[in-house]
Amino acid sequence: MILLTVNNERREVDVPADTPLLWVLRDQLSLTGTKYGCGIGRCGACIVHLDGAAVNSCMTPVSAAAGKSVTTIEGLNDDIAMALRRAWISEQVPQCGYCQSGQIMAAAVLLVQHPQPTDAQITAAMDRVLCRCGTYTRVRKAIHRAASPAVETT
Ligand code: FES
Ligand code: FES
Repeated sequence: MILLTVNNERREVDVPADTPLLWVLRDQLSLTGTKYGCGIGRCGACIVHLDGAAVNSCMTPVSAAAGKSVTTIEGLNDDIAMALRRAWISEQVPQCGYCQSGQIMAAAVLLVQHPQPTDAQITAAMDRVLCRCGTYTRVRKAIHRAASPAVETT
């Protein structure tokens, strides 16, 4: 048994230690907001937070998450997350939506590290999340909006 803390809940899973965290989240814990895109660490659709850092869950063995705090899109509900959600809606960011939980998970870490990010900081942080629908410009605008409460509430 591997003991995890996922979205502030203690969970036990009976899987091999090298099982990707992504499969545990989706198949064992039914947290399907985290998406499978490439499975090789290239697309960012599977990003979750591990002790506050953005990680590709397809490349993270579940054993690496034991004893740490895992946050998925379902459990992302702090002030930054709420600001991002409002901004995402205001800027109408999603198209097909497939990449969007990865986008928001990456953006949330960015805003913790850089509450008022520059374009260069946004590019550096968000480069790891691919969007086949090409929402990059809207993602950038939404991050700036979420970082600026005066704009975010308009
Ligand atoms: S599914 Fe994990 S990086 Fe693409
Ligand atoms: S919104 Fe379709 S892949 Fe990003």
